[in-house]
Amino acid sequence: MNKIVINGSGKLNGTLSVNGAKNSALPILAATLIAEGEYSIDNIPDLKDIRTMIKLLETFGLKAEKTDDHSYKITNSGVKDIEAPYELVKEMRASFVVMGSLLAHVKKARVSLPGGCAIGTRPIDFHLQGFEKLGAKIVLDHGFVTAEAVELVGARVKLPFPSVGATQNILMAAVKAKGETTILNAAREPEIDDLSSFLNKMGANISGIGTDELKIQGVEKLIPCKHSIIPDRIEAGTFIIASIINDGDLEIQGVIKEHLKGFIKKLEKMGVEFEFNNDRLKIKADLEKLKPVKISTEPYPGFPTDLQAQTMVLLSLTNGKSELKETIFENRFMHVLELNRMGAKIKLEGNKASINGPVDFIGAEVSATDLRAGAALVLAGLVADNTTIVNEIQHIERGYEDLVERLQSVGAKISKQ
Ligand code: EPZ
Repeated sequence: MNKIVINGSGKLNGTLSVNGAKNSALPILAATLIAEGEYSIDNIPDLKDIRTMIKLLETFGLKAEKTDDHSYKITNSGVKDIEAPYELVKEMRASFVVMGSLLAHVKKARVSLPGGCAIGTRPIDFHLQGFEKLGAKIVLDHGFVTAEAVELVGARVKLPFPSVGATQNILMAAVKAKGETTILNAAREPEIDDLSSFLNKMGANISGIGTDELKIQGVEKLIPCKHSIIPDRIEAGTFIIASIINDGDLEIQGVIKEHLKGFIKKLEKMGVEFEFNNDRLKIKADLEKLKPVKISTEPYPGFPTDLQAQTMVLLSLTNGKSELKETIFENRFMHVLELNRMGAKIKLEGNKASINGPVDFIGAEVSATDLRAGAALVLAGLVADNTTIVNEIQHIERGYEDLVERLQSVGAKISKQ
């Protein structure tokens, strides 16, 4: 089954619970390479990318036991191999984040160079520059990158851009380096904070968490720990948009307001009201009265690039002309062509999209090109007249566990074929 079939669904009602964050679980699972012993980690989403990371850890000699749908017991009784094979890294470029933890533990790592993907070339130069600053020697050969160090020594690493992956990789490489490492212009995404608190639970000494300057005092030894992954703010944002565009009366559980502040601020400017009761959220919005808005994606705490595609559906249903600039990735507008085929009126000019609304989405056969573009097409299908068929749903299933079943549970006319 590789298609999702959606009919215009009208009002959605009920409760949607947010799963654990894929983009936090991946680096935290990679961090289990750093110290020997037994880890228990829960609130891990049951996704293909997670299963790929688990396969990768097993390649290195770790044991992984799934203790329930969303929990794993990971046993590290010594790293047996240091090479991340092409076939796994090809499946998931985020595998590259094992480089830092392998360097920390065995001072050597050999990882197949992650390719680019639909949204951009996705280079890893900042990661490699950071490893070199810490004393690693980098060799590129036959499509692999090998990093090796006699000793890792703390250093001052200034990132040219607050890269999430580079911050995670350098952070992990630094936890056992001799002396102090400072990462300047560090990414501040909640997933970085979650990784930092996981590493500190292991005995690392990281300060400045939540700021753009992370200080890491190298320690001799780290030990395993227990941890629960933070909720997925991007899944939460996707459900928030589903509720607004379907005149919904949804309650969304597991939303941390702080993690979505850039997104919430823009939607409040449009006239959306957010009623939080701890981590339970209800949204009030009259679609006809929402105002157009100008948005530019930015590193956290700005508007997240991972909610750009989904937000375009909302802006297409909003009265007036909105603007959305994509400043993080160089090619993250593939969903626009498909949304326009469904009746959207979106014009592109470089990295800026002008969105005229409101439009009536018309069902069509479309294809997902990447994870968040796929989610946007599902959202448009929920409000379109007649039937929408979304192909290439493997992209969607990388980031949203049981999306069809969960949307069905709140009244969406959606199924997999
Ligand atoms: C993470 O990717 C997320 N993926 C992405 O989510 C997210 O969009 C992105 O951060 C930005 O928030 C995971 O966490 C697995 P970056 P990452 O390094 O770490 C450039 C999703 O939908 N750059 O912050 O790869 C890069 O090309 C995915 O869940 C360099 O030039 O993102 C991009 O333009 C998509 N050199 C910008 O920085 C480098 O060495 C941001 O990339 C590294 C990055």
